[in-house]
Amino acid sequence: MDFYAVLHSAEAGEFLSVPEIALLLDAPDAASENALFEAAYRVKSRICGKIVNLRGLIEFSNICTRNCFYCGIRKSNHKVSRYTMSMEEILHSAALAGEFGYGSVVLQSGERSDPAFVDFVEEILCRISQLPYELGITLSCGEESLETYRRWKKAGARRYLLRIESASEKIFKAIHPADALYSERRAALERIKTAGFQTGSGVMIGLPGQTVADLAADIDFFRSMDLDMIGMGPFIPQEDTPMGEKFPDQPGMPEKRLELSLRMIAVTRLVLRDVNIAATTALQAIDPENGRERGILAGANVIMPNVGDIAHRKDYQLYNGKPSLDENSEDIRNKLIASLERIGETARFNASGDPLHFFNRVQNK
Ligand code: 5AD
Repeated sequence: MDFYAVLHSAEAGEFLSVPEIALLLDAPDAASENALFEAAYRVKSRICGKIVNLRGLIEFSNICTRNCFYCGIRKSNHKVSRYTMSMEEILHSAALAGEFGYGSVVLQSGERSDPAFVDFVEEILCRISQLPYELGITLSCGEESLETYRRWKKAGARRYLLRIESASEKIFKAIHPADALYSERRAALERIKTAGFQTGSGVMIGLPGQTVADLAADIDFFRSMDLDMIGMGPFIPQEDTPMGEKFPDQPGMPEKRLELSLRMIAVTRLVLRDVNIAATTALQAIDPENGRERGILAGANVIMPNVGDIAHRKDYQLYNGKPSLDENSEDIRNKLIASLERIGETARFNASGDPLHFFNRVQNK
């Protein structure tokens, strides 16, 4: 198989086998890597325009019942001081997103399924829906029952993000404690679809033991799940976690993981076409000045600027090097608009930015 021949058929929208996906991810040199990014960016520009959709990110609680080996807010990390934003604080952040013209918000938290939490999220959704802004609401609160997903959908959320973290069961098992079941995670994603959400998932890139073949299988998984949204980024060791202790960064590794993440974005765009793909904060953690911009130029079309209060930012560190720890939401916004302009992209304001794929998927049913 010739790299450029496969790239050419990928750009034309032909079906790629898993080995062909792996071949693209494995671009052999700088020239082929650039050709990959450029092809993906052309497809992104054709399908989504030179436009970036914004979602205001509200990290509303870091209380978590899970113990994922990689995550800084895992239950057993006693160095973290735990918080849940008050309803007023959350509404204030959502209103700020509305005023900024972001058009949509993402409510993200640690995972809980107790009745008080389920009620609280439902109440947040009802209250945000009553604000004088048209805000598309995305939830990212982990694995829940179908009943909970249905309640939250009914209360006004329209999208849900739940990363599979790795579609390889072997890797999934290696990065989670025994009570986190791969089959359950997949079943939760199915429930999210059943509840009628625009459904997003994704993986971490550069995990210990993860190969290019594994990452190609991840993209094949996105395709087989018929997802609407993809959010993925480099694995970044967090020092107070089991994986952070066992796999500390060696020099050069963060940049390698960033590069591999950009390749994943590009190939995902070429294979999945009309989905929303986020240029995630983890890209920016490794390259603060250009990480997310490089993500857009590799084919992503969504950015999630933080609209939460600075006071809680430092307590929501899933990984080391989280950017903008002391930057208020307004500064974040202004910097982002300027940096998008610099790369010839425009932020889309006052639109919820639904993934085209969702409508294509629903219409084809
Ligand atoms: N490095 C990179 N991403 C991480 N996440 C959690 N911990 C880390 C880490 N150490 C990601 C997971 C999770 C999302 C909210 O954050 O993929 O689904």
